[in-house]
Amino acid sequence: MSYSITLTTSDAQKFQFNCNGDQNVQEAAEIAGFFPPALCKVGSCGSCLAVCQQGDYELKSYSDGVLPPNFKTTGDTLLCRLYPKSDLKIQAPYGSDQIQTHQPIAREATIIELEQIADRTMKLVLQLKEDEEQGLGFEFEPGQFVELEVVNLALKRAYSIANTPNWEGRLEFLIRLQEKGQFSSYLQSSAKIGDVLKIHGPSGTFILQAQSLKPRCFVAGGTGLAPFLSMLKRMAEWGEDHPTHLFIGVNSEQEIFCRQKLTEIEESLPQLKVTLCVWNASDKWQGFKGTPADALGDYLKQTKQLPDLYLCGPPKLVEIAINIALERGINSADIYCERFT
Ligand code: FES
Repeated sequence: MSYSITLTTSDAQKFQFNCNGDQNVQEAAEIAGFFPPALCKVGSCGSCLAVCQQGDYELKSYSDGVLPPNFKTTGDTLLCRLYPKSDLKIQAPYGSDQIQTHQPIAREATIIELEQIADRTMKLVLQLKEDEEQGLGFEFEPGQFVELEVVNLALKRAYSIANTPNWEGRLEFLIRLQEKGQFSSYLQSSAKIGDVLKIHGPSGTFILQAQSLKPRCFVAGGTGLAPFLSMLKRMAEWGEDHPTHLFIGVNSEQEIFCRQKLTEIEESLPQLKVTLCVWNASDKWQGFKGTPADALGDYLKQTKQLPDLYLCGPPKLVEIAINIALERGINSADIYCERFT
C-alpha cells in the first residue's frame, strides 16, 4: 500500500512523495530525489527529527533520549524510523535550503594541525584541496557537521565544524577522545600531518535561528562547544547583538580547553557571558561547580526574558537540560538540539 507524504519546511515549501507501508519516510524521500537531513538512519542521532501533524504511523525502535520527553503530545518523530499507515503531513524544523536534491560530492582535505589540547580532547585542522567548481571554498552554516572518512581504514565519523566558512579552505574540529573509539585511536596512534581525509557534507539542521530576536542560551557538554564556537564567530562577523549566555561543562579542570579562544570571542561579543562549569571540581576551582544543565536552571530562575535554547552534547545532558527548560516555561519549539551519538 502506498501513501502520500507531504513534508513542509519552515519556509512553507512543500515536498510531496509516495511511501509504501514497508518503507520509512526518509528512504522514500531519497528514492523520490529529495535528501532531507539525516545521518545515522537507524534512529540514534536525531538529525532527521520532524513533527508529524496528521496521519497514522508506526515509529520503529530508536535510541533513548533522541526524541524530546513530550514527543507523544508534540508529534515529534524521526523520518528514518517512521513507517506510514495513512497519508501523512509532516512539518520540518528547517528551511527548504536544507533539503538537497542530490547526494553532496565528497571533497578531500589534508591534516595540517593535530594537537591534544586537554585530557581527552583533540584539535584537528584540515586544509581542503581545491575543487574545480568551489576552489578552496566550502559552504556551510555555523552549527553544521561533516563526516570525516579515513578511506584506507574504512572509518567514517561525524563532527561539528568549529570555525566559520572561509575562502582559505580551513576546517577546524574539536574531537572527544573515546576509550576504544576507532576514530580516536586513529587520531592518537597513526594520524599525521599530511594525511588525506574525505569530507562528506555539510549536513545538519542545528543552526542559528536568524529570524528570532530572543536572547540565546548555548549549553555545551565538552566538545559540544565546537558548533557554538562557529555560531559565536558568525555572530561576531555579522555584528549580531542578541544577548547570549554560553554554559560549557567538563568533568574536571584537566578537561578544560579553548580558554584563550573563549576570551577572544568574549572580547569581540560584549553581550556574551560565558559560564565554565566543572562537575567533579577540586577545592581550588573558583568557578561554577556542577553541570551546565544545573547552571542553566539557575540562570532560567532569575532571567526576565526566556531565551532560545541551543543544546549540544551527550544525550543525557541534552535530555536533562530539555526537562529543566520545559519546567521553567521555555516552549519546546524554541529548543534546538544536537546530540553526540
Ligand atoms: S538519521 Fe534518523 S535518527 Fe539519525
